[in-house]
Amino acid sequence: MSTTPQPFGRTLNPEPVSVSRRAEILADPGFGLYFTDHMVTIRWTADGGWQEPGVVPYGPLSLDPATMVLHYGQEIFEGLKVYRQPDGSVASFRPDRNAARFRGSAARLAMAELPDELFLASLRELVSVDHEWVPPAGGEESLYLRPFMLATEVGLGVRPSAEYLYALIASPVGPYFSGGIKPVDVWLSTEYTRAAAGGTGTAKCGGNYAASLLPQAQGAAHGCAQVAYLDAEERTWVDEMGSNNLFFVFGSGSQTEVVTPELTGSILAGVTRDALLVLAKELGCQVTERRISGSEWLEGAAEGRITEVFGSGTAAVVSPIGRVKHAGGEVVMGDGQPGPVTRQLRGLLTDIQRGLRPDTHHWMYPLA
Ligand code: COI
Repeated sequence: MSTTPQPFGRTLNPEPVSVSRRAEILADPGFGLYFTDHMVTIRWTADGGWQEPGVVPYGPLSLDPATMVLHYGQEIFEGLKVYRQPDGSVASFRPDRNAARFRGSAARLAMAELPDELFLASLRELVSVDHEWVPPAGGEESLYLRPFMLATEVGLGVRPSAEYLYALIASPVGPYFSGGIKPVDVWLSTEYTRAAAGGTGTAKCGGNYAASLLPQAQGAAHGCAQVAYLDAEERTWVDEMGSNNLFFVFGSGSQTEVVTPELTGSILAGVTRDALLVLAKELGCQVTERRISGSEWLEGAAEGRITEVFGSGTAAVVSPIGRVKHAGGEVVMGDGQPGPVTRQLRGLLTDIQRGLRPDTHHWMYPLA
């Protein structure tokens, strides 16, 4: 088995998107609709380890119908963004955290663990070839990176695959929610749960997201953009929203407390969540990680103790929640508008990511 890291090969796309078409896409990218000219692929086999790292033209993967991922769902992914800096360079936000979480997800799904150095090298390689796809500084847009890995062994036995494909693709994106920072309505599901303790809630695997689609459709039928879940065991404690973590602001002014559900065995350890805990402390808020029940949320908001609620994630950034709907009614959060803590935290975070404020925590990672 090869133990020394191999250099990345590079096969340039003979038919890249034209400069004028790329400019059109960057001017209005939407979310996850367009992809850059290249991607990274790295293969792993039980006998040979990680091999053939390379940048290749973006294009379809060819899979045998009996490829294991198609049957048993051994698939994991990550999401992180690349931001254009005021001096024209590009940088990502805490990609070492994504590398570590990717390894953790692989371990939970009994997959090969990609070394962090190889994960980070894949980001550098792709962004150095496709850096012109990083949208200009000064706007809401960024280049979203999607590392993922799938089981590629062919066979129908239920066991860990002996072969994997790691791939990295990139997509220029605007805000995840089409309204930008406009508050979204959230459906609090009492029927479905997202993950149970001991399950795969702490892993970023496709299966978790597949299971969220039916509740999401139920939420959409009630006019909601997202679904918030309660814990699977007691159906009492707020978990997360499936594609972002939740934050609750209690009180105001010098009495402000920011609360987020503690990381139990079912909540994804968000990279943005972690940064916001640090920034909220710096804003002078009391910061608490603890269990919060669905009824504390609904009653606290109805009675004015909870003044703001927002979701946090790489894609969602900091997204205010305007209203929570549930089987028994609905409650408006604060005055239904983005509150001051939500706006300040969003501003602090995005200023650091866009190089508009000193990066005192050394969160930014130069890529090209
Ligand atoms: C992210 O925030 O990067 C996520 O993974 C959410 C995504 C499923 C859109």
